[in-house]
Amino acid sequence: MSCESDGKTIYESAPTTDRNAELLAKRHHFDSLDSLIDYLPRHANVLDVGAGLSNLGTTVAGARPDVRWINFDFGYSDPFILDRARADAPGNISFVAGDATRISQTLPGEEFDAVFSYWMFPHLSIDSELPAENAARQIYRVAKQDALISIGPKTDMRLFPLLHEKESFLTYKESTLHEDEFSKEVVLATKLGPLVRYISRINNSVAAQAIGTTVGIQRDGFVLRVYDRQTNTYVGPFTHSGSRIIGSIATAACRYVVRNPPHFL
Ligand SMILES: C[S@@+](CC[C@H](N)C(=O)[O-])C[C@H]1O[C@@H](n2cnc3c(N)ncnc32)[C@H](O)[C@@H]1O
Repeated sequence: MSCESDGKTIYESAPTTDRNAELLAKRHHFDSLDSLIDYLPRHANVLDVGAGLSNLGTTVAGARPDVRWINFDFGYSDPFILDRARADAPGNISFVAGDATRISQTLPGEEFDAVFSYWMFPHLSIDSELPAENAARQIYRVAKQDALISIGPKTDMRLFPLLHEKESFLTYKESTLHEDEFSKEVVLATKLGPLVRYISRINNSVAAQAIGTTVGIQRDGFVLRVYDRQTNTYVGPFTHSGSRIIGSIATAACRYVVRNPPHFL
């Protein structure tokens, strides 16, 4: 069994999650969701990169009709994910399918007063740092001068990150900071440790080979729905029974690690 994920970049099989707005506001350094809602300037243009199925954008846009919010995620090219993401969404939020390494090409001429991103960057640097560096450069480029930029989580944790979700790397766009320096700082802050990167690669690879790509993980880590490449269909939805699938992926991954220990173990 190889660690490659079927010729796809490993982040293309990053699962989509649905963290809630209150939790995300805190991870982005606000005391509460209300303080994030109050913070945004009038008629602010806001971007959430890798927003997935989280309801941060729909909640804030609902409370602030003057704000224009864009949720950006390549998961939205999947109609199943797009339908779920925009269910009950107000009119001032849009959902754009695109790759974070090409934001300015996908949204030409757009500039933002605030840019958020949570739990996308650690996926982008699992294999190589290049996608994360490029995505950070893109975010800096589309941010207005003095814009708030919050990218998380910071990953200076030793344990498996899901046990321990940290706050974001928060900064404001400065005229004196070049996008290359910014992107290096972001990657340093959000890169997973070597062991967790290794485990994530194996997990993605085992998941991709065993049952296709995981497209959705709902609260509590249950697989919501998986794509079966052999039949070209989605299997599921899974709720509690999905945990058995997660369990078998984890077991297969552990066996693989035992048979093929990485050089640093
Ligand atoms: C773990 S989810 C996080 C979703 C949401 N921010 C949250 O906290 O629940 C990561 C998201 O990043 C998206 N993603 C990963 N790589 C991406 C890329 N290169 N461009 C755009 N979206 C990407 C995935 O589709 C997925 O929805």
